[in-house]
Amino acid sequence: MNHILRMCDLTDEDLYRLFDKADKAKENKIHVQQAFVANLFFEPSTRTKMSFEVAEKKLGLETLDFTSESSSVQKGESLYDTVRTFEALGANAVVIRHEKENYYDDLLEGVSIPIINGGDGKGEHPTQSLLDLYTIYQEYGYFEGLTVVIAGDIKHSRVARSNAYILNRLGANVSFTGPESWQDESLVFPYLPIDEAVEQCDVLMMLRIQEERHQNRINNQQGYLQQFGLTVDREKRMKHKSIILHPAPVNRGVEIASELVECSRSRIFQQMSNGVYIRMAALEHVLRGGTENEKTTETSTH
Ligand code: CP
Repeated sequence: MNHILRMCDLTDEDLYRLFDKADKAKENKIHVQQAFVANLFFEPSTRTKMSFEVAEKKLGLETLDFTSESSSVQKGESLYDTVRTFEALGANAVVIRHEKENYYDDLLEGVSIPIINGGDGKGEHPTQSLLDLYTIYQEYGYFEGLTVVIAGDIKHSRVARSNAYILNRLGANVSFTGPESWQDESLVFPYLPIDEAVEQCDVLMMLRIQEERHQNRINNQQGYLQQFGLTVDREKRMKHKSIILHPAPVNRGVEIASELVECSRSRIFQQMSNGVYIRMAALEHVLRGGTENEKTTETSTH
């Protein structure tokens, strides 16, 4: 089955094929046969949910919308039974965001349609990682030797987990920066002070403080920008060509100074646009099942 669950499931060949497909998606040059896709979001989302929906519409797919609040989940129906229900109704693929890490482990045996992971708790966010990689690739055209610093709430970030692993595999030099209490021992990468990080990086990947995943919800944001965030002064010390990424939503004035969100080296809104093309490519990838001849999925017009 051709799921997209974790970045380690994708080969380098898959990655570059997805980038190529995203380029084609931008020109409306990929096509899939009519199919139904269910978007099952159990956690809040603006970008991921809406960009999947736009991607599905651009591909001519039928979107089955779902909100857990108005569904039979409220009567105690499990995730497994919910997904099996959509499968029985005729869904050809599902996109799932869920608060439980590795939620898909409970689905893989019984579900026969592809699953795209839209985020599993603190686990992974593979389509975010794909669009981040695609944005870096558009900028530099390579990964080998790039210095990428991931900054902030590492411990609670599925974006950090997905990106650190895959960027390292692609040959980038990955480091972290952030408060000691949010370091993650399971991710073995060096930590730099933010003032060194901004001067060394080619890509500075800022993260949102994931307050909803903190056990003790105290106000950690006081003084955070000056101590750990990207201030205007720090941005001035970045290398001429280095870029700023952020998966968003952005806490303006907390992890990044508000005026830097749309500065010339920020690629934050470009990331969102790329999210549509990458998700078109991801949907095509899973619906094709890796078996169809490439030529049948690419058309010169759409
Ligand atoms: N980057 C991201 O996943 O944003 P949403 O939570 O709005 O989908």
